[in-house]
Amino acid sequence: MQHKKLTLLAAGVLVAGGLLSGSPASAGEATASMLANTCAGCHGTDGVSAGPSMPSLAGMPAGYLKEVMADFASGDRPSTIMQRIAKGYSESEIAKISSHFAAQKWVNASPGPNLKNGTMVDSAKAAQGEKSAKKCGKCHEDSGRSIEDDTPRLAGQWTDYMRIKFNEYKDADLDMPQPKKMKKQIDKLSAEQLDAIAHFYASQK
Ligand code: HEC
Ligand code: HEC
Repeated sequence: MQHKKLTLLAAGVLVAGGLLSGSPASAGEATASMLANTCAGCHGTDGVSAGPSMPSLAGMPAGYLKEVMADFASGDRPSTIMQRIAKGYSESEIAKISSHFAAQKWVNASPGPNLKNGTMVDSAKAAQGEKSAKKCGKCHEDSGRSIEDDTPRLAGQWTDYMRIKFNEYKDADLDMPQPKKMKKQIDKLSAEQLDAIAHFYASQK
């Protein structure tokens, strides 16, 4: 499924996409880090995001990454470019890549190495967001730091990336994979409240 909102992410990716040349493995079996290197053009070295609209993958749960890649490949998860990429790997390669990223250390986007491209955390907004995010904490525990098998980390993620996700989650035309309870909560929040929540999670170390 193509969608106008998703093209936002794709725009930042066109240049990096040039790095995608040919298949990742040439001879014999590709190692996990060889495979993961093919993601670096967009998701940064070892999954530490290189730009504000690109999610960091370092330290994300392996189970979540595997599921997300399978959903991209099948088309269950709307994407601009990830379907084509995910389809290029076997199940066992995806498992290797997922474990590789899961084993990396999470690095906060803010004030991480790439913040110069992204939105600075606004502490007044972050304080507002903390209140609105109370219910989110049922799943995104420990102020978004907890990483369980199917729940991605939010603490230290890009504000900009989270804003893009909120627009996707709210969009009735996009069938985004998301828990029903989360959808209900997000639908009730205004764009301003969600913006504050994004600042709150981004501010967490
Ligand atoms: C050409 C740029 C590009 C490359 C290379 C790339 N990605 Fe992505 N990735 C994206 C974009 C853009 C998105 C947002 C979804 C979309 O629009 O396709 C994304 C989203 C994701 C997500 C979803 C994260 C989340 O929390 O929602 C995962 C997981 C992911 N990519 C994994 C990978 C892996 C693993 C590789 C290497 C095998 C890879 N990507 C290579 C551009 C890229
Ligand atoms: C019932 C549990 C639950 C609740 C409540 C919940 N979430 Fe989530 N959240 C999830 C799960 C599971 C995912 C992963 C969905 C997927 O992509 O498969 C997710 C994904 C996300 C993502 C995307 C992260 C990424 O890396 O792509 C954001 C942003 C997010 N949630 C924010 C929120 C906010 C803000 C709230 C409260 C308003 C909230 N969530 C409430 C379980 C929950």
